[in-house]
Amino acid sequence: MTIILGLESSCDETAAALVTHDGRILAHRLATQEEAHRPYGGVVPEIAARAHVEMLTPLVEAAFADAGLQLADVDAIAATAGPGLIGGVMVGLVTGKALAHAAGKPLVAVNHLEGHALSPRLSDPTLQFPYMLLLVSGGHCQLLLVKGVGNYARLATTIDDAAGEAFDKTAKLLGLGYPGGPAVEEAASRGNPKAVPLPRPLLGTSEPHFSFAGLKSAVMRAAQSGQHTVEDIAASFQQAVIDCLVDRARRQLVAYPDVTAFVVAGGVAANQAIRGALETLAASQGLRFVAPPLWLCTDNAAMIAWAGAERFSLGLTDALDFAARPRWPLDPDAQAARGAGVKA
Ligand code: KG4
Ligand code: ZN
Repeated sequence: MTIILGLESSCDETAAALVTHDGRILAHRLATQEEAHRPYGGVVPEIAARAHVEMLTPLVEAAFADAGLQLADVDAIAATAGPGLIGGVMVGLVTGKALAHAAGKPLVAVNHLEGHALSPRLSDPTLQFPYMLLLVSGGHCQLLLVKGVGNYARLATTIDDAAGEAFDKTAKLLGLGYPGGPAVEEAASRGNPKAVPLPRPLLGTSEPHFSFAGLKSAVMRAAQSGQHTVEDIAASFQQAVIDCLVDRARRQLVAYPDVTAFVVAGGVAANQAIRGALETLAASQGLRFVAPPLWLCTDNAAMIAWAGAERFSLGLTDALDFAARPRWPLDPDAQAARGAGVKA
């Protein structure tokens, strides 16, 4: 049996987990920094990095205690090495390197996005390559053809904001606070999704990409007009996002009929209305729908340990001088999408 320790620290969650090569989660610990960032309405990188320093070692110790294991029992140490807030990424990666060096175990430097991309294979071991992945998080909104471990074709990305970013900004505009996604979903559950006419950017165009900036501006105008309730705006916003995600994904599912499943991952995949709409889309294409449980969708260390296990089983380990990467696209060959400030 192979046991991998995973460390995550790329944004505002600090986490440690122990996972086996056959997908058993022996322990997973997570500390969220929500309270520390709430007064600022978003993640403050300096505060995040400091909190990761304080939290990571106790979480690693707690995970080992939960599993009744010691550092000597693990086969490799997997740490998020990017992309993300560089201060936080460095805390996790340096901790991973120190543990690997001290224990004489190999290091696996994990791309956080690959953690999300492979997480559905942790929750569903029958999921085979190739699958179509909608990766929707705070920093990313992409459709990827997942051909294998480390083998991704990016078919579409956002030309401006990521889907989670749109949720977070909408929450701020509507005074719903931080973190925005769950707050918007909760308000939307009490609103009418047809109440406020909002745009569906890029829908029906020949372009494969996503765009959410115009939607956010329309939400701002709707909020300022004083004609709508917060619940109705939230519900209408969420419906517009759903329509865009479904339209863009359908197009790729039609173009790649040989995929084994339609898979969704990333923090926004925790949204029940979005999951429901994507499940309906998969069914309409005669495809299996796979979405990890909610806690595995948002940032966590089990997905990093699992990506580490997948890479380790293929002999993919990294040198201890591996440098943290603030940007690290899954598909290095992807063409830049139209527009400046494109998220990798
Ligand atoms: O994957 P994740 O935990 O961190 C990143 O790697 O970005 O995703 C966080 C994002 C945030 O933008 C958050 O607002 C969004 O996922 N999110 C949601 C929900 N839960 C989290 N968006 C919509 N509905 C939710 N229930
Ligand atoms: Zn993430």
